[in-house]
Amino acid sequence: MTRRLKFTLGAMAAVVLSTAALASEIAPEAVEFTDDGVVASLTGTPGDPAEGAKVFKNTGLGNCLACHVNADMESDQFHGDVGPPLDGVASRWDEPLLRAIVVNSKVVFTDETVMPGFYSLEVGKGVAENFVGKTILTAQQVEDVVAYLVTLKE
Ligand code: HEC
Repeated sequence: MTRRLKFTLGAMAAVVLSTAALASEIAPEAVEFTDDGVVASLTGTPGDPAEGAKVFKNTGLGNCLACHVNADMESDQFHGDVGPPLDGVASRWDEPLLRAIVVNSKVVFTDETVMPGFYSLEVGKGVAENFVGKTILTAQQVEDVVAYLVTLKE
């Protein structure tokens, strides 16, 4: 009985914790764009560049590599050149603008860009229908990718 109670309490605590984490997350439609980009972290939890690199390569997630390459990933297969190489990208754009580009590239570039908006409910042109009404990346995945991009300095 005591064991069972402990388990139940533990499970309840886990539920409370995950709700709290979600509550501090900025919803896609609430992201604030300024001239400087998206200044505030979407989650308040610092991004992890190693996780970001994985999201960058993952064909089911960022799949950034399908359009962008950088020296760091030159040996990876199937990289594309639709978008510019991202070497030194952090020297060209500050973190808030990198975040803005990943959240919704259309705000920074034009409506015509082929780059999807990764944390927008309007993902963009030709993006798989199963993403309609959803974001491609979670808020934390965006933070992880941004943390990875910030490491790409010249
Ligand atoms: C379907 C192709 C495509 C995908 C997928 C894509 N991008 Fe892009 N990206 C572009 C294009 C094209 C541009 C150049 C802007 C333009 O002309 O639209 C760009 C521009 C950028 C820039 C600015 C580069 C610079 O040097 O100015 C960054 C940063 C960037 N993308 C990051 C990403 C990240 C991170 C991902 C994955 C989460 C990603 N992109 C996925 C096509 C893509």
